[in-house]
Amino acid sequence: MARTYLVTGGAGYVGSHVALALAERGDRVVVLDNLSQGHRAAVPEGAELVVADLADRHAVAEVFAAYRFEAVLHFAALSLVGESMREPLRYCAENTANSLWLAEAAVKAGVRKFVLSSTAALFGAPDRIPIDEEAPVRPGSAYGESKLMVERGLAWADRVHGLRSACLRYFNAAGADPAGRLGEDHRPETHLIPLAIDAALGRTPPLTVFGDDYPTPDGTCIRDYVHVTDLAEAHLRVLDRLEEGSCRYNLGNGAGHSVREVIAAVERVGGRKVPHVIGPRRPGDPPVLVASSERLRRETGWTPRFAALDDIVRTAWAWRERHPGGYGDR
Ligand code: UFG
Repeated sequence: MARTYLVTGGAGYVGSHVALALAERGDRVVVLDNLSQGHRAAVPEGAELVVADLADRHAVAEVFAAYRFEAVLHFAALSLVGESMREPLRYCAENTANSLWLAEAAVKAGVRKFVLSSTAALFGAPDRIPIDEEAPVRPGSAYGESKLMVERGLAWADRVHGLRSACLRYFNAAGADPAGRLGEDHRPETHLIPLAIDAALGRTPPLTVFGDDYPTPDGTCIRDYVHVTDLAEAHLRVLDRLEEGSCRYNLGNGAGHSVREVIAAVERVGGRKVPHVIGPRRPGDPPVLVASSERLRRETGWTPRFAALDDIVRTAWAWRERHPGGYGDR
């Protein structure tokens, strides 16, 4: 029998790719999204969409009353590092309260499994690369702090209520559904790959590279770009793994690429130059963030299908080129 999953933020970038993966394997998906960032058109066919805000606890309770969920997968959150440094209290208050009341509603409804979309921003500027699950957590932003508080709340929910949780610390989610059904459409867009593509397509002014004086081989920041479809696959595997108990995983490709390398990949894939200028550093950007996903690989058998940067960029380019206005709903 098909199982039913609640996917909060399932109309957003990562959430929609996970909702699609669940729907494709025959599961029933209920998306809960306030559409502040999400897009109606990103909700996969067959999934039900409930438009509601997580802060509306009455609406959330109604959703839990209407379905019997196998698990909750929680993506809905404020997620901009820069914005969180201008509005730290809002980030800590909203992300934490919304997530923990959601977990409370899940517990009350008898749901046993909870998957949290967490972040590499937990690690601030790490001492060691690659970053494994034993690395000390010391967020360098209010965004990271808010996710850490949620992870801690979930640990208590396991201890007291037996709610099994998986905290997945994503590194840089990138790319788009390889079949072209879904893509990345943030408003405003702040992420490197879509911005570089738009600059190459002449849709925006030149890209600004945030600093070229970092202690890295070419002076620009190094990140671990992991394909969003590989991220989605990791969620499916982790759901199975939750039978054995709570877990937390760092989720990346394990390979670092500098901003200049990303620009070169976009130029190779798109066959066009990426006009760019060098600007100042962006506050809060650590020089290098690369994940060790050894534990995830070992314990769930996950392995990325789109490990090569060019493959990631190719899927992003294909969607963005075909969708100049994104999902076109704003
Ligand atoms: N960058 C530029 N110019 C731009 C945009 C980005 O040079 O216009 C650089 C950034 O400085 C950074 C890299 O490109 O070095 C990647 O930046 P993104 O904004 O695409 O991604 P981040 O690494 O800042 O953020 C991602 C997630 C966050 C998460 C964080 C963890 O989007 O949610 O990783 O470090 F918190």
